[in-house]
Amino acid sequence: MYKLYPPSDDLIEVVEIILSEDQASTLDIFTRHLADAGGPSVSGVQKTAKHYAELFASKLSVKQKAYLDTYADGQLAVLMFTGMLVPHDFDIPDVLPSLAELEYDSRGNYLAARNQLLLCLVQQRAFAFDMDNDGKIVRFVANFKGGGRIPRDDEDPAHPVNLSSHAGVGLGPHTEAPYHCSVHSRDLHSPAPSSLILTALWNPLDEPTQVIPLGKVLDEVGTKDALALTSHSFRYTRSDSFVKGKGEQDSSVSILEFDPQGEFSVRYNYYRFSVLPDASPLIKKAFMNFKSRVQSATPFAFVLQPSSALIINNSRTLHCREIIQDNRRLLVRLFGYSRFAKPIILNDDPLIVQG
Ligand SMILES: [Fe+2]
Repeated sequence: MYKLYPPSDDLIEVVEIILSEDQASTLDIFTRHLADAGGPSVSGVQKTAKHYAELFASKLSVKQKAYLDTYADGQLAVLMFTGMLVPHDFDIPDVLPSLAELEYDSRGNYLAARNQLLLCLVQQRAFAFDMDNDGKIVRFVANFKGGGRIPRDDEDPAHPVNLSSHAGVGLGPHTEAPYHCSVHSRDLHSPAPSSLILTALWNPLDEPTQVIPLGKVLDEVGTKDALALTSHSFRYTRSDSFVKGKGEQDSSVSILEFDPQGEFSVRYNYYRFSVLPDASPLIKKAFMNFKSRVQSATPFAFVLQPSSALIINNSRTLHCREIIQDNRRLLVRLFGYSRFAKPIILNDDPLIVQG
């Protein structure tokens, strides 16, 4: 089965794929094999995941497959998978384990392996940047550093908290960095991720992940202002998740770009981007217009649990979240590159690229 959002609109940007019991149990078997082989951080597992994805696709309906292909071609903003099995012990702990403990958690590894397989279903490949998340393929998204609604036991409330997915602070609408380019490498930088995939190990209070598809927003922005967003007139501050000493700030980048596959690609971060001081008045006005259209857009809110996953097209969708309410909320994230992406490869398997 599948569901479309919004249900009665010409411009479908979000599709939910609802797995049947039979599909879910096949996916579970394949995922266990991948997790047993070590998960996405281990060499050789990507190839097996691709093979399992091909086998699994034969279990899908014609319509389900058609939407996977539409996403793979860059034409959808978000793909949601629901109805998946929750096979292990997912009991919610009293306190969030440390990052070091999670690296060896079999449940986290299972969800990371399933994310890798789901990425293969849309013809994408899991990877990591050398300069982000310590070069690791799997990112645990949770409040490890403080800044949530309730302070952690080890948190010093006087100490400022970084804006990163390892903190509990709310994060305004953004695409994932880096912000130099979207499909082809440029100036020794690999493109931004084509997708990010998220699932949850624990989400006790059903705190949502919000997404803003940009197709409609750009229609509202208008032709002239959209054209202004394609100029290299914008800069951004460095991401706090980058490895120390790596990742620039203050580059001159564009926000919008024409893309032959997905029609357009956007790179933007509500809390990091600004317009260059010497940009023309038209560009400054266009930036303010885009910013306010993003702010006034109504996001789609999805509650992630172990039985669901969200693949977000990073070229045409912003994502955001409110401040973390329950410090045990833990998401498992992977980045994916489409078959069109041309990164600078540092290691082929697992795929590590230059950021
Ligand atoms: Fe993010």
